[in-house]
Amino acid sequence: MKVRASQEDLKKLNIESAVVLLYEGDFKNLSRLGRGISSKVKKALELENFKGKEGQIEKIPLPGQRIGLVYAVGLGKKEKVESDTFRRATAVAVKRLKKDGVKRTVFILPSRVKDKVYQAVAEGAVLGSYTFDKYKSKKEEDKKEIEEVFIYNAPEDAVKRGVIVAEAQNYARNLVNEPGNVINPVTLAEEAKRLAKEYKLQCKVYDEKQIQEMGMLALWSVGKGSATPPRFIHLTYKPRGKAKDKIVIVGKGLTFDSGGLNIKPGDYMRTMKMDKSGACAVLGIMKVVAQLKPKVEVHGIIGAAENMPSGSAYRPDDIIRAKNGKYIEIDNTDAEGRVTLADALSYASELKPSKIIDMATLTGACMVALGEYTAGLFTNSPSFAQEIKESAKEAGERVWELPMDDERLRKKIKKGPADVVNTGGRYGGAITAAMFLEEFVENGIEWVHLDIAGPAWSKEDYGYYVPGGTGFGVRTCVEYIMSIEEKK
Ligand code: BES
Ligand code: MN
Ligand code: ZN
Repeated sequence: MKVRASQEDLKKLNIESAVVLLYEGDFKNLSRLGRGISSKVKKALELENFKGKEGQIEKIPLPGQRIGLVYAVGLGKKEKVESDTFRRATAVAVKRLKKDGVKRTVFILPSRVKDKVYQAVAEGAVLGSYTFDKYKSKKEEDKKEIEEVFIYNAPEDAVKRGVIVAEAQNYARNLVNEPGNVINPVTLAEEAKRLAKEYKLQCKVYDEKQIQEMGMLALWSVGKGSATPPRFIHLTYKPRGKAKDKIVIVGKGLTFDSGGLNIKPGDYMRTMKMDKSGACAVLGIMKVVAQLKPKVEVHGIIGAAENMPSGSAYRPDDIIRAKNGKYIEIDNTDAEGRVTLADALSYASELKPSKIIDMATLTGACMVALGEYTAGLFTNSPSFAQEIKESAKEAGERVWELPMDDERLRKKIKKGPADVVNTGGRYGGAITAAMFLEEFVENGIEWVHLDIAGPAWSKEDYGYYVPGGTGFGVRTCVEYIMSIEEKK
């Protein structure tokens, strides 16, 4: 599917269908269809009692007209509409058009919207066309691909950026959806190398021997129970000329999480191929950065491992030395993500960035706290957190900050014979996990941790999501990185 901006007069565009995005009770932009068609559409909408509420969609055939088919899509009340409303509405429309077998269309937006809205519409179109069907032998949907989507009157740059970002998010979704027998630590590292080659990024992969030599025994311990050894992946993007900032993005990369010796019950083990979602988001972000080329140095870090029970698996009671010299006692082998991140964050700190963002499907507790659609945000820097919250808002990804200042809670990970223990008990489980991570971020580096356990995976068909991996985090981080480029 091609998505592009069109400055062309609608008449010259010579297109058989159009999608009009309408605010509730405000149908002014129908006039862009031309007087004749516009009045016919208005009548049809009245007849069908279409008000423009969010989620409303009306198909209006106009036999014999220059545009033979118009879809009216509701956005809801103008005051309440955000960029993400446009993103969702566009995706829902694209899903519908695809079902109806439409091949070419043009999206018509209300007038005077900001460039970010045009970007959101481009993203919605690309995200809405996503399917993961490579393992369906019969591809009946093949005939129903939309070929071309125009966005009327859109600034070209905004559309181009939206397409790049959404394609990277779809790329992350694809990787998340690949099962553990296809993507394991070794094949994930190969994919990172392939990506780096395609987009001219630097990429260094460390194998299980080098991981041990570098003192990353925490990552190694989590991975050693699997028949497929762990890998440590470091991707680098450096801008031409002087960088305005240097940031590291870290992703949890558990290609499968069985729980290890503290094995998960079957119901909980299902979907744990998605425990690499943070890592997949990192790859998606690096893919975007390589194309948009901001004046910011960006490092992508992934500790990839598979958490399996076996004779060589790490155990409860084990005490392990992490890369920064701190000792970790294992209480529960299913709290493995934070153990791998201990080394990844230590390594990230050694790169001396000003900021680190990590994304991890870290705790079920975070989903209990916030529901499955919102990521938990944790930080050692209120000002950095504020910037990430603003980027997330603009990107249409929900984040909510949880507190890190409860010193009594912190004590729960400082118990036992080692410096830290890898669980803090049932209550405040997302917070104690974040406090554990903080032990491995060097003082002076601003850090935000996103617990994406909930939003990394969708059970539902909703907006631009379909059941499966979501690529959550790509848009927020890209928005943040590009905002550095635009500020200062
Ligand atoms: N990968 C899981 C967290 C998770 C759960 C992500 C559900 C997505 C959906 C993580 O490794 C884990 O197992 N966490 C445990 C920690 C506990 C043992 C302290 C959890 O949340 O139950
Ligand atoms: Mn686990
Ligand atoms: Zn896990």
